Amino acid sequence: MMTNIDFLQRRRFLQLSGLGAASLWLPHQAIAKQGSLKPSPSAGFKADIEIEITAKNARVPIFKNGPTTQVQKYFANFIKGPKQTLQHLPDNYLGPILNYQQGQKVRIYFYNKLDQPSIMHWHGLHVPQHSDGHPMYAIPPGERYVYEFEVLNRAGTSFYHSHTHELTARQVYRGLAGLITVTDAHEQKLELPTGEFDLPLVIQDRNFNAQNQLKYIHGMHSRMTGFLGDTMLINGKPHAEFSVKSRAYRFRTLNGSNSRIYKLAWDDGTPLTAIGTDAGLLERPETRPYIMLAPAERIDLWVDFSGRPVGSKHVLYSMPFSGAMPAMSERMRGMGGGRGGMGMMGGGGMGMMSGLAQGEKFPLARFKVTQKVSDSPTLPKKLVKIDRFQEKDTDNANNPIPVALSMRPMTPQINGLSFAMDRVTDSEKVALNSIKKIKIYHTHGQRGMGMMGGGGMGMMMAHPIHLHGQQYQILSRRLTGHNASYATVKDGFIDTGWKDTVLVMPGEEIEIIKPFEDFKGLFLYHCHNLEHEDLGMMRQFYVS
Ligand code: C2O
Ligand code: CU
Ligand code: CU
Repeated sequence: MMTNIDFLQRRRFLQLSGLGAASLWLPHQAIAKQGSLKPSPSAGFKADIEIEITAKNARVPIFKNGPTTQVQKYFANFIKGPKQTLQHLPDNYLGPILNYQQGQKVRIYFYNKLDQPSIMHWHGLHVPQHSDGHPMYAIPPGERYVYEFEVLNRAGTSFYHSHTHELTARQVYRGLAGLITVTDAHEQKLELPTGEFDLPLVIQDRNFNAQNQLKYIHGMHSRMTGFLGDTMLINGKPHAEFSVKSRAYRFRTLNGSNSRIYKLAWDDGTPLTAIGTDAGLLERPETRPYIMLAPAERIDLWVDFSGRPVGSKHVLYSMPFSGAMPAMSERMRGMGGGRGGMGMMGGGGMGMMSGLAQGEKFPLARFKVTQKVSDSPTLPKKLVKIDRFQEKDTDNANNPIPVALSMRPMTPQINGLSFAMDRVTDSEKVALNSIKKIKIYHTHGQRGMGMMGGGGMGMMMAHPIHLHGQQYQILSRRLTGHNASYATVKDGFIDTGWKDTVLVMPGEEIEIIKPFEDFKGLFLYHCHNLEHEDLGMMRQFYVS
């Protein structure tokens, strides 16, 4: 029986099928089987948690003064489960925080009440294909999609967001995102800060016009480098200020920006202590002068205000760095192009229309100690045990799966290909339950030597590379190419934890080890610079 949705989906497949010469069609049965929709709940799945989430247009008061802002927002309705599962953020364009426990079975009814197609993805959660928000499942306005999954993840911080092909950047920008926390028995034994001392910090940059309305970018050049806004929102609010007590906190930082990279540091030079990375705690805390946070990355910080006097203020900054953007736009910034842009590329220059370039210094959030308290938890020396993958655990140590990043004029690509819903290459076919070595590196596009240095060196920029499914481990990070500014970022990478998104700076080559367990099907990998993702810098693995 073919429903309306089936028909729309199939048609969309056909429309979006790419023409990558090297890629293979997925076997027809694979798509038919893997691609079957879930418009209704399955009887055999006994949910502990049931939530209704509706995406719709809304107006929210982002600013204290002036008009409310037109956004797209996830509204959630609780059907069943523990009450703390849903944590609403009032007057916000972010969806509620979803607090899960390992082992819970979750059913989510997603309703699309926007005026465009949409689908949700649980970034960081290891779920079956039908519940992963693959864009082939995007539903038209008025339709419903049902997600069913068990929380297999260990304790950590993740998030959810729209994953609608070619609309992801715009929909996330307008508000379709929210935080996810997962806890488990190990974490609970550690007695990390909880409740008001477990503070989410969702960091996003936006542009607003004088009427408080969101402005997005136009034009190919800006999309090629990605959206950069000049107004920082923390948990959906500008000018973020928090009153804190003189004790330890856990900050769950998430970079929910489309393409801006942050270099987190304290104004007074106090180092930062990380206790977790993408969806997992570290083995032991790591202390750094600054920490890089690329789009979609999470860092859980241990922040201790003990001994800080009442009335003292502490400002979390993004510090200056360079070398992340194409050489051409960095040069323009040096020439003063960063403020307002030189205009020579049209549209105010490469991604600089906002007047706040990638790598500039600006404050993110202020913390004021308003109360002295006498007891504070102490930072555990050991957090969790991480079983380290080694090359010998993989079945392709000498033949890593390539993820070659390139920028042809107007086309950021992976392995020289753009996204195609129904195709995978040979190297993208992965056996279920295998552990793979994957090598992520920059390459110069073979074709096109246009005005901006073509697909060559001049266009090389940083890409945050995300793989769906299970978290991976970083085996090595090496500077194999040229990056004169590398020193401004190199001490800020926490590579010892679980990862699902890794920032690959120009000149870097990163090897990772990733397990492909539990679920067969199509699992995306892509650049999480959302403009790049929408431009097709996305591919998929076919696990079978
Ligand atoms: Cu956060 Cu495929 O996405
Ligand atoms: Cu994801
Ligand atoms: Cu990219």
